[in-house]
Amino acid sequence: MQTLNTVSRRAFLKSASSFSLPLFSIEFQTPRFITNREIEVTRHSVGLRNLPPAFDGFRVVHLSDIHHSKYVSFNAVYRMVALANRQRADLVFLTGDYVTWSKKYITPMAEALRDLKARHGVFGVLGNHDTRVDGDAVTRALRKVGIQVLRNASARVDYRGQSLWLSGVDEYSYGQSDVAKALHGLPSTAPRILLAHNPEIIALATEYQVDFVAAGHTHGGQVKLPGLKSLNSITQPNQEFLEGFVSAGRTQMYISRGLGKVVVPLRIKCPAEIPVYTLRSSSARIGL
Ligand SMILES: [Fe+2]
Repeated sequence: MQTLNTVSRRAFLKSASSFSLPLFSIEFQTPRFITNREIEVTRHSVGLRNLPPAFDGFRVVHLSDIHHSKYVSFNAVYRMVALANRQRADLVFLTGDYVTWSKKYITPMAEALRDLKARHGVFGVLGNHDTRVDGDAVTRALRKVGIQVLRNASARVDYRGQSLWLSGVDEYSYGQSDVAKALHGLPSTAPRILLAHNPEIIALATEYQVDFVAAGHTHGGQVKLPGLKSLNSITQPNQEFLEGFVSAGRTQMYISRGLGKVVVPLRIKCPAEIPVYTLRSSSARIGL
């Protein structure tokens, strides 16, 4: 696990935010030998202070950056859903970028996600691409298939007489994240779990004493060629924060490498990822 103290937070934030801009646009057939079609399922324990005992052991499956587009086919999205379903989720978190540039992918993307299985619900937030394409249309499509979209809002999950709150923010890079509003109404002792597309949210999340953030956006770099900066680190060097655990103050955050591709139809040395978290009633921090 890394901490924000290990590198400049500002440098990290610049690094992550730089990825939202297309660096160039090239269309070509993906050479099979360098396309990583594998999805790595990674497993983590997340210790949460004051987690109600009923939720101890809850399994959360996290999908991010699906990017249904000409680079990520419907069948590819459906394979993601099938693999997610094999994890037997209690909860599914979706942290945005369901589509990339075109509205025409919104409905099929939602139809594929309709089949996601989670015993206690599927919850999502929007990413920068969704916001740019049409955030309201993406929201409507997801809600139509039963997904709870948390737009600076919270939802309560009840189980065995106890409750867990899940909060979500709109996209940081558009200035639309309102953490205070997202957390509004939570009991003071409840664990604060935040879904956010952009890991830049960590500064605000720390300020609002969020316990755990599930984030994406960076694609983990997506393309990592030996001796070169990763695709999303071309302008900024701090790759420590492109993926995995980060902590700051009380806040622990996991940045998924995500599932899809943007800018180029490739992932190189950076496999797609489905993180699976097991929630634990514990004052301990994240364990692997
Ligand atoms: Fe993305």
